[in-house]
Amino acid sequence: MSKDTTVHIDSDTILFGVMGDPIRHSKSPHMHNRALRAKGVNGVYTALHIKPEALRDAIAGVRAMGFRGVNVTIPHKVNVMPLLDEIDEDARLIGAVNTIVNDNGKLTGYNTDGIGYVRSLKEEAEPNIAGKRILVIGAGGAARGIVYALAKEKPDGIWIANRTAEKARELAADFQAFGPLAGIGMDDIGSLHGEIDIVINTTSVGMHPHVDAISLDPDWLRPDMTVSDLIYNPLRTKLLNEAERRGCRIHGGLGMFIYQGAYAFEYWTGLPAPIETMRGALLE
Ligand code: ATR
Repeated sequence: MSKDTTVHIDSDTILFGVMGDPIRHSKSPHMHNRALRAKGVNGVYTALHIKPEALRDAIAGVRAMGFRGVNVTIPHKVNVMPLLDEIDEDARLIGAVNTIVNDNGKLTGYNTDGIGYVRSLKEEAEPNIAGKRILVIGAGGAARGIVYALAKEKPDGIWIANRTAEKARELAADFQAFGPLAGIGMDDIGSLHGEIDIVINTTSVGMHPHVDAISLDPDWLRPDMTVSDLIYNPLRTKLLNEAERRGCRIHGGLGMFIYQGAYAFEYWTGLPAPIETMRGALLE
């Protein structure tokens, strides 16, 4: 199939973008512009450097200039919420928005991070989450969306382990209505040995430039586990390398980034996202 990779910008071009601070290193414009071209959508997606004090004006600008959609990233995912007209139920429960859809001036906020992660895990590593026993390491903003989305997949249990145990217990309590959840300290994971099917690192431990760091003792891992890391810089963290060496199935963070963008693309355009085009754009 031949595809038109030329950008035609004219008065019909649909506007998209990502707001963040900093934003210069965002890979979203490259990924989304490729996706728009591949699907034949006359649109452009740009990076918008928005400081916290300018967020209100920027959102007013989305309405005024008729952007069809924007992503919001650090540090705006929480502060953008009161500036929108409607918040999707999942985003409200997670307490953060990463995707805004503009329907003729009415802005709705969604969170595609958690569902993006789960779709990536299922497509790329572990098709059946139902009945599985999951250990989530970390209890910050990233863990929140993921724990909520995982709980909806009917796992047998989710244990959240965090350096600060109290935060893990709070996160487990927040979502206890959605599934069997427990919050524990990192020192308590020893007692789960042999109990866990899927381990997910949501902390920044092991991220560039601290690539030799690891969030748990790899000797705790067993060959029948799936080990997943949200980090995608580097594509293979020390945790994933150690897990692979021990015979575990491994799953990196690039897929989460692709699928959170894929859901946003689908909400904005109504078209199925070209996943492999998006992956190819990121791997270049
Ligand atoms: P994010 O939105 O990326 O999740 P965050 O909300 O700041 O960022 O959360 C960071 C998470 O990584 C937390 O669970 C944090 O543990 P604490 O709650 O104890 O701070 C965890 N984390 C960050 N650096 C860590 C480190 N060096 N060792 C262990 N955990 C770490």
